[in-house]
Amino acid sequence: MSKETIIVLDFGGQYNQLIARRVRDLSVYAEVIPYTTPLEELAAMQPKGIIFTGGPNSVYLESSPHYTKEILDLGVPVLGICYGAQLMAYMRDGVISHAPVSEYGHVEMNIAKPSSRLLKDIPEMSVCWMSHTDYISEVPAGFEVTASTANCPCAAMENEAQKLYSVQFHPEVTHSEYGRQILKNFLFEICCCAGDWKMDSFIDETVARLREEIGDKNVVLGLSGGVDSSVAAALISRAVGRQLTCVFVDQGLMRKNEGDFVEKTFTSLFDMNFIRKNAAEQFYFRLKGLTDPEDKRKAIGEEFYRVFWDIVREKFSDGYFAQGTIYPDYIESGNGHADKIKTHHNEVKKPADIKFLGVIEPLRLLFKDEVRKVGEQLGLPEELVWRQPFPGPGLGVRIIGEVTAERIAILQEADAVLQDEVKRSGYEREMAQFFAVLPGVKTVGVMGDHRTYDELVAIRAVTTDDFMTADWAKIPYDLLGRISDRIINEVDHVNRVVYDITSKPPGTVEWE
Ligand code: XMP
Repeated sequence: MSKETIIVLDFGGQYNQLIARRVRDLSVYAEVIPYTTPLEELAAMQPKGIIFTGGPNSVYLESSPHYTKEILDLGVPVLGICYGAQLMAYMRDGVISHAPVSEYGHVEMNIAKPSSRLLKDIPEMSVCWMSHTDYISEVPAGFEVTASTANCPCAAMENEAQKLYSVQFHPEVTHSEYGRQILKNFLFEICCCAGDWKMDSFIDETVARLREEIGDKNVVLGLSGGVDSSVAAALISRAVGRQLTCVFVDQGLMRKNEGDFVEKTFTSLFDMNFIRKNAAEQFYFRLKGLTDPEDKRKAIGEEFYRVFWDIVREKFSDGYFAQGTIYPDYIESGNGHADKIKTHHNEVKKPADIKFLGVIEPLRLLFKDEVRKVGEQLGLPEELVWRQPFPGPGLGVRIIGEVTAERIAILQEADAVLQDEVKRSGYEREMAQFFAVLPGVKTVGVMGDHRTYDELVAIRAVTTDDFMTADWAKIPYDLLGRISDRIINEVDHVNRVVYDITSKPPGTVEWE
């Protein structure tokens, strides 16, 4: 590997990819590899630096992930984080103890060695974010404590001569006030990185890798028209052109005119084969009588599965299967260490009778904002790159209760007004996602001289970088007022509009 690489050695912590992403944000390429990777393989990657991630265990447990001690003798700088810090101490015969109480959350940290390269430009007192029970009670020979907190005598330690550094807290989370500075110090002061990695390097490398991997075979991709599958499609199309076929299943659960927009965009902008299947009737039939959110998600998922794979089965005999899975999908579906929150059907399961040469997920390690950067670099139109995420089950999870063609029509109209009004106001980019929801509540109103008893529409709008946490958007009142007026005046069967002011957590972005 010729480019500057930081290896993030994964010991099972929930922030492993976040560490890599923070490093990439600082223009240094980072790759997460499992702790089971042999030392020779790791050394052959010629990393500029190595980061040990956190992990859920105590280093003294036999079942805990360990690594050969020789990694600390490669002469490559190492930064241990949380469990990784304890592991470094353990490898060099320090002592790790079990604290009676866990230290969790924001903690004040005091710097003991202001000249530490790792802690350069950080005030003597700052806030860091801790999440641990074990702690380093005796640092190994040759190490010195460089920072501490009230309950943690060794919040940071180092052996400067050997370029070994550790922090008990999590510099990768934004709650650690100077976390970014610490990672920056590690990369540039200690590993002496040049920081010349950019998203276009990602594209060149990915396109080259895809070409090699795909060869002269075909690739089929399920295109939803969202940012992720679009960027994946653009990348693959750049690599192999018409060897790629995108299959777009119109479930009848998209926003107003969206199916046509998707078709037009992809047939005019890309070099690929494009298949559109209009399947609204089938989906509505399948959703009849269903009201439970998970039942609805399941039904939509199953129907999609059937329709999509029938097309694939009919048209493709072999080749690769591609999808636009991004990193947050992956962990939110319960594949990582996070608990399963909702059934996302981005990761499409495959029927046993269909055989592929392999699955291609070129965006698997990227976060949403990184995907958008790739899209921009690929020259995709702004409208597409900045398209809001849209859930796989579409309006099906924005209509509470039974989904019917009539209720979809109401929601599509209300949502179209919302989209239009926000676009006109220039406020669009201030929010990561905004949409209308039909909660299935009827309320009394008065229009003209008449009593009305009609549907309530809720507006949901959030700001977020990565969709793992989100805040409700502080939309100006006058804009909210215009949205409400227009929806009530222009959309039949709606007589009231409310605004959702719940963050995630405790709410999720979608209502179901
Ligand atoms: P939640 O509701 O989980 O949403 O906070 C986080 C982000 O994911 C989108 N979302 C989905 N995307 N398939 C998707 O592709 C799904 O099943 C799904 N459910 C939610 C949601 O719109 C938001 O951007």
